[in-house]
Amino acid sequence: MPCTCVVGLQWGDEAKGKVVDVLTDHHDIVVRYNGGPNAGHTVMTGNKTFKLSILPTGVIRPEVISIIGNGVVINPTRLREEISQLLKNDIDIGKRLVISDRAHVIFPYHVEQEKLTESKQGQSIGTTGRGIGPCYQDKVGRVHAIRTGELTQHAHLKERLDTVVDFKNKLLRGFNHDAVQFDAAKLADEFHEHGQFLKPHLTNTVTLLHQEFKAGKNILFEGAQGSLLDIDHGSFPFVTSSNSITAGIGSGSGLPSRYVTKVIGILKAYTTRVGKGPFPTELDDGPDGLGERIRKIGKEFGTVTGRPRRCGWFDAVAARHSSMINGVDEICIMLLDVLAGFSELKIATAYELDGDRITYFPTDARELERCKPIYETLQGWNEPLTTASKISDLPTAARKYADRIGEILELPVKLISVGPERSQTIFTGRV
Ligand code: GDP
Ligand code: IMO
Ligand code: MG
Repeated sequence: MPCTCVVGLQWGDEAKGKVVDVLTDHHDIVVRYNGGPNAGHTVMTGNKTFKLSILPTGVIRPEVISIIGNGVVINPTRLREEISQLLKNDIDIGKRLVISDRAHVIFPYHVEQEKLTESKQGQSIGTTGRGIGPCYQDKVGRVHAIRTGELTQHAHLKERLDTVVDFKNKLLRGFNHDAVQFDAAKLADEFHEHGQFLKPHLTNTVTLLHQEFKAGKNILFEGAQGSLLDIDHGSFPFVTSSNSITAGIGSGSGLPSRYVTKVIGILKAYTTRVGKGPFPTELDDGPDGLGERIRKIGKEFGTVTGRPRRCGWFDAVAARHSSMINGVDEICIMLLDVLAGFSELKIATAYELDGDRITYFPTDARELERCKPIYETLQGWNEPLTTASKISDLPTAARKYADRIGEILELPVKLISVGPERSQTIFTGRV
């Protein structure tokens, strides 16, 4: 049965949420397998805008089952806030939300721990400040980790938190004498209450997913973050703490990655990045520059933190690297409308590194920092694209630009997006 994955091929915010929403028309189940409340996926339907951080984008379609897999890290307070927001919009998730009892829990001390490194010059990586890194550290370190399934057992939770909180308090105070200190008993009560709330949704999602897969259900995996933020294959150390690429599906959901029959790579028609780290095609050219112009037209401000996103030309070297490590079958080119009105457009097809021309994405962030993009220049167009509904509505230069991206990446272009609305989507008919 078809099992599809939507995965970002840049530094996140490629408009995965919109694609997942458009595709959930044909899917029974949507699964998040990585990340946590660092994600911000936007969906616009008619006059409503939804910004989803932890909940899979499928939740806004009443017929879809949403699964939060074991690879996700959950902040129960934020999850409940998100559920409440949906209720205000008359969307009752009811039993359609299923959460893995193996997913790890973000506690307030994780957020405090993150502040320690993020506030230090030379250590900060510009995180979302949501405690993602410290929570995954505890997961891998094993000793101080607590999973969702443990929240429902008060005595056990209290016992675990007695040990963990003692350690965390000492750690926090060791770095900063005035650091916030936590009370294990209070946290146990608070998080046990969260556990009671989550209980009806908690289950062994691995068994459930396999049952549904066998029953022939259409399953869609919704990647969070982007491939260049992947812990193993991104621009380390300026990355997130999970495997955002398709390799994360098997570990983060329990359904083997090899069952995925189609990998859809999502790309903006240009490149953005929030947070720190190398960005070879960045247009850091001042308040009247091209970077600022893209930011303004594309409304490039972070969904989670509101930070201005850094903007730049399309980077085909990075996108090729991402396509390769994900096994991408087809691509979606998003926000093409934003590029209307530029006399010419650039695509980086190679880098110059210390005098040499290279076409691979360097391992070392310091090398990536030294890379100068080698561009090919394409003609721009003036016509707005936002009302285009079929390929033939696009000006020739816009069509050529999208085709060139597909050609360089040697991948078919499945769809072109010309606005945030569901309806502003052009299916090319090529896949
Ligand atoms: P995600 O994290 O990959 O789901 O992406 P985000 O939701 O963080 O950011 C993408 C932004 O672009 C959102 O504000 C979307 O509403 C918006 N968007 C999606 N597709 C298009 C498009 O084709 N054109 C424009 N102008 N905006 C779009
Ligand atoms: P979606 O799913 C864009 C970035 C942060 C920071 C780095 C590490 O909406 O595409 P973290 O808080 O994860 O430890 O931060 O990763 N980052 C994202 N950037 N989109 C995201 O998610 C991101 N999630 C994390 O800005 O640079
Ligand atoms: Mg986002």
